Amino acid sequence: MEIGLPPINLVTSHVLASTCISSRLRTEMEKATNSQSYIRQYLLQSEELYKYILETSVYPREPEPLKEIRDVTASHPYARMGTTPDSGQLIALLLKLIDPKKTIEIGIVAIDMDRKAYEIGLPVIKKAGVDHKIEFIESEALPFLDQLLQDIRNEGSFEYAYVDADKDNYWKYHEKLMKLLKIGGVAVYDNTLWKATVAMAEEQVPERLRPARQAALETNKLLAADPRVQLSHVPVGDGLTICRRIS
Ligand SMILES: C[S@@+](CC[C@H](N)C(=O)[O-])C[C@H]1O[C@@H](n2cnc3c(N)ncnc32)[C@H](O)[C@@H]1O
Repeated sequence: MEIGLPPINLVTSHVLASTCISSRLRTEMEKATNSQSYIRQYLLQSEELYKYILETSVYPREPEPLKEIRDVTASHPYARMGTTPDSGQLIALLLKLIDPKKTIEIGIVAIDMDRKAYEIGLPVIKKAGVDHKIEFIESEALPFLDQLLQDIRNEGSFEYAYVDADKDNYWKYHEKLMKLLKIGGVAVYDNTLWKATVAMAEEQVPERLRPARQAALETNKLLAADPRVQLSHVPVGDGLTICRRIS
């Protein structure tokens, strides 16, 4: 994106045709539930309870494009990294309430250093007719946010941000988003409960999960103490922290 352009309209994949609701056969829902790796990320008391929520309230109301994206990414080696459908449903509802015109997403749509990840979902985005609303930026997120901040017109101009990228940079993203979001704007951070490891003793946590766990612990502490935001730490999916800028 060129600095100095008028406000851009970015949209997350979660907004895709959010009114396009279709019902599906129970067998299809069961198949989807059993085949998805995010099922193992549940934070509820039992896997059955999580399946119950997905099958009762999430899959039957899932917009067709989101289901398609779920299907096309199901066999991808990094499928487990996708935002869970129940988180997506909450975000879609939030977006309807906020009705933002200018949004930013860090991680796949619309800023990602890996264009290939974005291109997996692109045919579905095009089919849904919303590709014109997205400006994809192939870049490391931090320098791009700095670039946005060089233009004073971008300050306080965004209404919504979604962050699902490298966990150790979440606080740095937050600091920049506090300048880019207008007062009343909302930032949502994914994976803030990091597979429930935030509440485990470090020695219980598999080695590969420890760096992001540490990052989540630090970010959660900083967010909870940040007087610039009103927040809610929601135990949905892998943990979403919803922050509304208040100062
Ligand atoms: C967990 S995935 C996002 C998943 C997405 N929310 C979804 O539901 O499909 C994280 C993405 O963040 C991107 N990413 C990681 N570090 C980044 C950075 N420093 N700057 C930009 N993108 C980054 C990765 O390339 C990856 O595509």
